[in-house]
Amino acid sequence: MIWSLQAAPDLSDKQFDQWSKLLEDRAGICLSDQQRVFLQTQVTMRMRELGQTDYSQYYNRVVDGVSGMMEWSVLIDRLVVKETSFFRHRPSIDCVLQFLQQHIDESSFKDTFEVWSVGCSSGEEPYSLSVVINDTFDTANIDPYYGVTATDISRAALTIARNGIYPQRKVEMMEPSIRQRYFTQQDNGRYLISPELQDRVCFNHANVLNINEMPSIMQDVIFCQNLLVYFRRWLRHEIMNAFVDRLKPGGLLVVGLGEVVDWSHPEMARAPYDEVQAYIKKTEAA
Ligand SMILES: C[S@@+](CC[C@H](N)C(=O)[O-])C[C@H]1O[C@@H](n2cnc3c(N)ncnc32)[C@H](O)[C@@H]1O
Repeated sequence: MIWSLQAAPDLSDKQFDQWSKLLEDRAGICLSDQQRVFLQTQVTMRMRELGQTDYSQYYNRVVDGVSGMMEWSVLIDRLVVKETSFFRHRPSIDCVLQFLQQHIDESSFKDTFEVWSVGCSSGEEPYSLSVVINDTFDTANIDPYYGVTATDISRAALTIARNGIYPQRKVEMMEPSIRQRYFTQQDNGRYLISPELQDRVCFNHANVLNINEMPSIMQDVIFCQNLLVYFRRWLRHEIMNAFVDRLKPGGLLVVGLGEVVDWSHPEMARAPYDEVQAYIKKTEAA
């Protein structure tokens, strides 16, 4: 029988450990035993595409030099959860709005307003942030002076993000005023994000575990939701500490509610926003 029609052989305990260790070492993602079937399905689907029949041989291919890195970038795209939506957690987006509004009210801008969306998936999160930032500058009658850096480990997700074209069902859940202002419906019914926002968001491939791949400019806001939840607790804390080093004094760090527990940092204070887990970096005067 040809391989593509055969049922995939089960991953042995040793093979499961080997593959999940690779995933955790390289991407931080920690799989539970219940996710064994998921891992097996994704790996065998990719092996079928390559006509490969042996888990160990395929493993060796993935870890082998430059060609292995290219194969890894295809496989990792299948192993990450990329679920996202526009305005996914509205209170967190609104807290960025309030933070910006406060800066505008206090005229405390020294330079451009920089925002980093970490684990941005197919772009809905950074574009949602751009919508509120753009609107807030607009209402205040100030020339928008901001940039959003959006990073992810999945190249496939980043391609969708850069194209900025979304299915009707995703866009129609948004307020009509936002849709009308920032999207254009195409002949096929899909929606294209406006160049006004597209020009503001810079998408980059980056692994959050790799400190060298973090944006080099200091950020006013770091927004990281539904990513740290896949990591072990100690790693979440390490990444939070690295975020602090990338924040301007007075900057805002927003994470998913409940995604980080028992974390504190001498330079950070919990921000007073309802239903949001956010921290402000202390200024030297504080
Ligand atoms: C569930 S999505 C969350 C998307 C968005 N932040 C949201 O809340 O809607 C998680 C994203 O994190 C990305 N990701 C997973 N591991 C990563 C890593 N080590 N470095 C950077 N991005 C990673 C995945 O590719 C995926 O797009």
